[in-house]
Amino acid sequence: MAFPSLWACLLIGCFSVSLAEAYNLSDLYPPLWKESPGQFSDYRVKNGKYIINPWAYPERLGMYKILLSQTASYFEKFAPENEQNILWGLPLQHGWQYTTGRLADPSQRTDCGYDSGDRLCISEDSWWADMNYFLSALPFLAAVGSDIMGISSDQVILLPPPKDQTKFCLNVSTCQSSFPKTMRKWNVFYQHLQLPSSSFEDLLKYLWAAHVSALEDAYKIFEDRLQDYSKPEADFGKSWYVDVGYIATAKFPTTLIRTHEFQKCLPPRMLVSGDRAPYISDFTKLQNIVLLGLNILHEVDNATGSSSLTVWKILMKTEGARKLVLELSEKVLEIFN
Ligand SMILES: *[C@@H]1O[C@H](CO)[C@@H](O)[C@H](O)[C@H]1NC(C)=O
Ligand SMILES: *[C@@H]1O[C@H](CO)[C@@H](O)[C@H](O)[C@H]1NC(C)=O
Ligand SMILES: *[C@@H]1O[C@H](CO)[C@@H](O)[C@H](O)[C@H]1NC(C)=O
Repeated sequence: MAFPSLWACLLIGCFSVSLAEAYNLSDLYPPLWKESPGQFSDYRVKNGKYIINPWAYPERLGMYKILLSQTASYFEKFAPENEQNILWGLPLQHGWQYTTGRLADPSQRTDCGYDSGDRLCISEDSWWADMNYFLSALPFLAAVGSDIMGISSDQVILLPPPKDQTKFCLNVSTCQSSFPKTMRKWNVFYQHLQLPSSSFEDLLKYLWAAHVSALEDAYKIFEDRLQDYSKPEADFGKSWYVDVGYIATAKFPTTLIRTHEFQKCLPPRMLVSGDRAPYISDFTKLQNIVLLGLNILHEVDNATGSSSLTVWKILMKTEGARKLVLELSEKVLEIFN
């Protein structure tokens, strides 16, 4: 079991490096954050309802922007400027998907998401975009349903994609009926957010529980979309999905700076056939090592029938153990850097 633990340490290490660097926080925001809608009145209104098109990058990003600002007050006690808001992990991941071309139509039958076409378009044929729908639309609508967005549940609807419309829920009530378990878990997170007695650790626990549940819902629906990708990219997608379970168990603090640091370790572009970590020449040493680690962790999980995750869960039960892993991983990374 030392093997998955070592790699998981490396992954955690990505969160931990160079936190001491000085940052201008606004430089860490996802691309087009400033230009995206930041309040409901920035969206179209029809029949008294706000209409959001989650298949356009700025509009999907805008849902996060409203979510981050509406939850900012609950994180003030941890740090200024909303830096410790653990919801930052979601829009930053989405920004990474956008920057690296992962929201584009992988079949290239349309120009959706390409520089040569509609760069801001989010393709429903993108596996990454569909998985992310469950980590943007659902937490957003669950927040509306939990009364923390300042509007009532029937005041907002999302537009469906051009096809396969039944795969996506579009308003609070249909999301609750189609994905009850996940919507409940987001609701539990928002309830604890509003309790002054909740600790940072508690909030991470509820956030990751909702996160993992959303990904489980989505993975079942969209697994077949991975076939439009090169083998290395499809393998990476699957590994990413499996490995998030380990990251969740260690309750990584998905705050602004940490998530930003972590994403420097992820592939900076889509993988193409022939890419083999740790020998990808245009990736940094760290990106190569982390990609290799993600793939190996996936293989170990698969080979052990996920009992490696069970062991990891037991190891990570105590806060002391999680702290130790964070510290250890910093040391490991120092060696690799
Ligand atoms: C941080 O960046 C923003 C936008 O680029 C700029 O307006 C602001 O002055 C910067 N703040 C500092 C302290 O450098
Ligand atoms: C939510 O969507 C469903 C199905 O599209 C629709 O029947 C229902 O009226 C909508 N509810 C609200 C409050 O908009
Ligand atoms: C997972 O395990 C199965 C059977 O043990 C094997 O056929 C498959 O190739 C493995 N997948 C990966 C990605 O290692």
